[in-house]
Amino acid sequence: MKTTLTLTLGALLALGLSVTSTTSAQDAGKVDFEKQILPILKESCFKCHEKENEDNGKIKKPKGGLRLDSAATITKGGKEYPDENVVAGKPDASWLVKTMTLPDTDDMAMPPEGKGDRVTPANIDLIKKWITEGASFGAWKGVE
Ligand code: HEC
Repeated sequence: MKTTLTLTLGALLALGLSVTSTTSAQDAGKVDFEKQILPILKESCFKCHEKENEDNGKIKKPKGGLRLDSAATITKGGKEYPDENVVAGKPDASWLVKTMTLPDTDDMAMPPEGKGDRVTPANIDLIKKWITEGASFGAWKGVE
């Protein structure tokens, strides 16, 4: 009787532990937009895709009508590809990523040829993973 009880408790405990560890492993594996994706966009894209601002007395508008500095405008997209900038679940249909993977010589390659380093393959994979996972911005809203 005593042995059975010990065994049952042991089994329950083991089950509880394995369930807990699976859940936290999944959370830890999910890409966090603000921590992992935003810095990549800041470094490679913000200089041309931010909210209209004044730079040395010159008005600078976001290129292609695309702002990458807020969740709403990343979702909305630009002039040519509205609603296709980020297509949740479909990285290959998302222009945010497509432009990063086009050859240097393509007119739509981003950043444009000679205007900054291409995004590294590892970072492109990270962005693809974020889109595949549903392209959630979490609590981040960005610049209004
Ligand atoms: C030096 C300036 C510059 C940088 C840096 C830059 N872009 Fe662009 N981007 C442009 C210009 C100019 C256009 C408009 C091109 C056109 O329509 O022919 C554009 C257009 C786009 C478009 C198409 C928007 C639409 O719907 O019309 C996307 C998507 C895009 N850029 C993504 C990016 C991403 C992602 C990065 C960073 C990896 C980036 N860009 C960095 C200048 C830039």
